[in-house]
Amino acid sequence: MSAKIAVITWSLYGHVAELANDAIEGAKAAGAEVKQFQVAETLPSEVLTKMHAHKAATDALPVIKPDDLKEFDGFILAFPTRYGRAPAQVSAFFDQTGGLWATGALVGKFGSVITSTASQHGGLETTALTTIPWFVHHGINFVPIGYQFPELQEVQKIQGSSAYGAGSVTSGDGSLRPTEQDKTVAKGQGKHFANVVGQFVRGKQ
Ligand SMILES: Cc1cc2nc3c(=O)[nH]c(=O)nc-3n(C[C@H](O)[C@H](O)[C@H](O)COP(=O)(O)O)c2cc1C
Repeated sequence: MSAKIAVITWSLYGHVAELANDAIEGAKAAGAEVKQFQVAETLPSEVLTKMHAHKAATDALPVIKPDDLKEFDGFILAFPTRYGRAPAQVSAFFDQTGGLWATGALVGKFGSVITSTASQHGGLETTALTTIPWFVHHGINFVPIGYQFPELQEVQKIQGSSAYGAGSVTSGDGSLRPTEQDKTVAKGQGKHFANVVGQFVRGKQ
């Protein structure tokens, strides 16, 4: 039986959505069954227009509902930073998961994080780190990537990934797209996550 993984994305300008697709490619290559979702928007459309939001990469995806989480063995969350932590949209989603928390519905499942920042030290690690409490309170096992990918040792070029998970640096105007290094790590993360979750799923059988 293959691992069932939900890739849950909120991406205003498409950078993280691109990395999420790379992670999906990696997870599928490792034999996982993958379904992709978007997180519900909470900003008014006039604000999104002023922010020049470009959500074409995720607009067609189904919006994740708390009960959807029960159907999966693991979740890869993909969202950009907001002040070094998760966007309010993601927080609003987790605020709706109290019923799942109360019944322990997510205990023993797995989670991983992919993110992006505009600046090089704008919070890639803190964004993943401050997501862990949601996992901890739900009993979800956080799956980091460690330093298994040589790309993580790169110091001559900008690279957005860390031991916490894949990431990209987008620049203030969003002109930097995820690099080949970022995409390789995201794909590797998807594969690693699918292997970890898959091993657990098979072991339980
Ligand atoms: C309200 C707001 C807060 C942000 N906070 C940060 C930040 O703390 N550090 C940073 O480097 N970039 C910050 N950014 C830039 C976003 O992280 C960047 O636009 C994002 O990584 C692009 O990813 P996306 O294309 O997937 O939306 C912020 C952007 C907004 C709109």
